[in-house]
Amino acid sequence: MTSRRKFVQQVAALGTLSAASAIAPSLARAQAAKLRVGLMLPYTGTYAALGTAITQGFNIAVEENGGKLGGRDIEYFTVDDESEPAKATDNANRLVQRDKVDVLVGTVHSGVVMAMVKIARDSGTLLIIPNAGANAATGSQCAPNIFRTSFSNWQPAHPMGKVMYDKGHRKVVTLTWKYGAGEESVESFKEAFTKLGGSIVKEMYLPFPNVEFQAFITEIASLKPDAVFVFFAGGGAIKFTKDYAAAGLKDKIPLYGSGFLTDGTLEAQGASAQGLLTTLHYGDGIENPKNKQFRYAYGKKYGIQADVYAVQGYDAALLLGSGLTAVKGSFGDKKSLYGALEKVKIDSPRGAWTMSRAHNPIQDIYLRRVEGNANQVIGVAWKALEDPARGCKLGA
Ligand code: PHB
Repeated sequence: MTSRRKFVQQVAALGTLSAASAIAPSLARAQAAKLRVGLMLPYTGTYAALGTAITQGFNIAVEENGGKLGGRDIEYFTVDDESEPAKATDNANRLVQRDKVDVLVGTVHSGVVMAMVKIARDSGTLLIIPNAGANAATGSQCAPNIFRTSFSNWQPAHPMGKVMYDKGHRKVVTLTWKYGAGEESVESFKEAFTKLGGSIVKEMYLPFPNVEFQAFITEIASLKPDAVFVFFAGGGAIKFTKDYAAAGLKDKIPLYGSGFLTDGTLEAQGASAQGLLTTLHYGDGIENPKNKQFRYAYGKKYGIQADVYAVQGYDAALLLGSGLTAVKGSFGDKKSLYGALEKVKIDSPRGAWTMSRAHNPIQDIYLRRVEGNANQVIGVAWKALEDPARGCKLGA
């Protein structure tokens, strides 16, 4: 072989090689591409602890799965949404358009989540909601790419109507923040309570996240209802039970709420929360192996007790992982992915649950009583409760 021919052959081989090496890494890159997870949650403000617990719960599930979901390593993009609806559209757009996330996970606040729902519907990005209860997210605005691992605002409040009626209460005052979650919780409680024959003496509201409760507590004392129903959560819930007890009303006018009132808050609430009855889809002492294992792992890693928010974050990662595994980690066939997400049965610390046709958990709602630093389950207030999903046409 002439040296020239040899040279030509070598160049040709090199050409093939370089073409091959140009393809090989891109294939390898596609297979190894990290799953881009956008976490949009509150890390400051009255719901800061809730956002943190959701993130930590999510991490526990990912760790249990060897650091991956659906066989893929994960790259996180995180935004502190501050539970601020006015910033919600910009925050969600940043994750979808700039960071090009494969999936949006968020958020806590019902007003903020409605901006995420709009962006998910417009962009087709998968949205997994690990808390915010806005009824419309799995109601009139339900969509094939929107799933929730928590609850609708209608769900935990509804059984409380019967619980309070059965306790003999007939005249009740309600108090909450004037925004989606507060209004929808009160509406759902009222729907159940008045249907049985109870009446609402007065509905009271204050702006979110205001904690100037004094004037309301004074008015409750003068109205003397049989009982009070509230929706508060996070830092606001801590302040409220303390103010209510300090005003001397705790043993005079019984206080009830959906379980957010006493979840993730008990250490700070101390004596002010002891004995309170609430309804929720989780309780600290639920007796199942999954709950024991989860609470142990969570406590060991984070040094605090798991709460409902941690469970919802954990379940969000379980949901995503099991859906993605079913489609071998690929977002290529959205129909198969959403089909897989619809069919999951989540083995949750709260007890196993399935997805409703509107993509919201069908789950037991527990009656809990605060004992020490735990929300002890004392009964099932409503078995396998499904949100009515008003206005949702999915799977109808
Ligand atoms: C909500 O805004 O939907 C919300 C916030 C905190 C909770 C529950 C619901 O604990």
